[in-house]
Amino acid sequence: MDDATLKSYGGDREVFNAVLSTSAIDKVLRVARREPPAPGTFPHCTNQGASEYIYEPSKWWTSGFFPGSLWAICERASKHPMDGYNLDEVVKLARKWSGRIEQEQYNTETHDIGFMIMPSFQRDLEVTGAKSCESVIVNAAESLLTRWNEHVGCIRSWNRTQTHLYCFDCKDTDFLVIIDNMMNLDLLYSASLITGDSKFANVATRHTETTLKHHFRKDSSTYHLIVYNPVTATPKIGLTHQGYENKSTWSRGQAWALYGLATVYKYTNDQKFLEAAMRAADYFMSRVDDGVVYWDFDAPRPCFWDVSAAMIACSGMLLIDQLHGSYTYLPHVTAILRATINGALTGNDGCTILDNSTVNNHEHAMKRITNTGLVYADYYFLEVGNRLLDMGLA
Ligand code: GLY
Repeated sequence: MDDATLKSYGGDREVFNAVLSTSAIDKVLRVARREPPAPGTFPHCTNQGASEYIYEPSKWWTSGFFPGSLWAICERASKHPMDGYNLDEVVKLARKWSGRIEQEQYNTETHDIGFMIMPSFQRDLEVTGAKSCESVIVNAAESLLTRWNEHVGCIRSWNRTQTHLYCFDCKDTDFLVIIDNMMNLDLLYSASLITGDSKFANVATRHTETTLKHHFRKDSSTYHLIVYNPVTATPKIGLTHQGYENKSTWSRGQAWALYGLATVYKYTNDQKFLEAAMRAADYFMSRVDDGVVYWDFDAPRPCFWDVSAAMIACSGMLLIDQLHGSYTYLPHVTAILRATINGALTGNDGCTILDNSTVNNHEHAMKRITNTGLVYADYYFLEVGNRLLDMGLA
């Protein structure tokens, strides 16, 4: 696409070139070539200054994003020229790292199994056609189905949760569902496509319908956490676990919502999910200032950014445009990417591509982590680059 046409759609060549810079890829590969400090651990977030990763075990919800970043690089190479890279080495590194999370396919203790499995195994399947990925995806989907409750109409996100303010730890009385759960549904749709068995997809669609009913406020902003009464199947309370306060909108939650809904539309083709995704995206953008995404839209300013929310939202909005065949969200995506490139790229010694993400800044959280490099901010940044290429915008 020539520069004038790109500009007329709200794009910006200079910004998109920066997103696709090879230094981002080099940073990921540098980390991938090193062994983790303890076997079976995965890059999660950084210390302040973003020069060293803190690693977490494979059962931690973010374990899939680093292998997923490597597979996102493989995906880029499979569709677009990536001169100067040894692609055999990149695929080998991706397989090595994703092999280390494979056992999580049997993990029934978390709804995050989609985050763990899909960034690698779905991409490996799509990029290389590796049939062995299919059984991993189907086993993981079976694991996720163990958390489904027909009466509530939802998948249980967490078994328990606690801040210094509240504690919910009784499975018989507290059925905990977080908006993030929307992002684990693609695992179920994919399992239905692989097996031809609609039971996985039916659960994903039911979960979405229940979530639309109870997680969304009238203005299309979202609660982070809904605690259901599993006996009556009604919501007891809407809370936040990582955001500013219960009635505020945690920006990453809103990003998970819009992206998750767009994904459900991708698989179901049901217009009501596209409309809901667009309403969630419109709300998100109505709260963004000059491309900057703060960690909670209602937190008093000045406050920390959450670049991970920014990247998730950009990828989700581009997905909406891809599915819709339009450039509706491109000006917004461009504004966010511009602010991110100008304000959150790490220096040469950074182990992450991006800085300035916020894991959890809730006043009463058991642990607050702010202003950090974060593996999933980088993962979605790479995904955004791939989408821009796929859309012919870069
Ligand atoms: N899914 C947890 C988070 O977004 O922090």
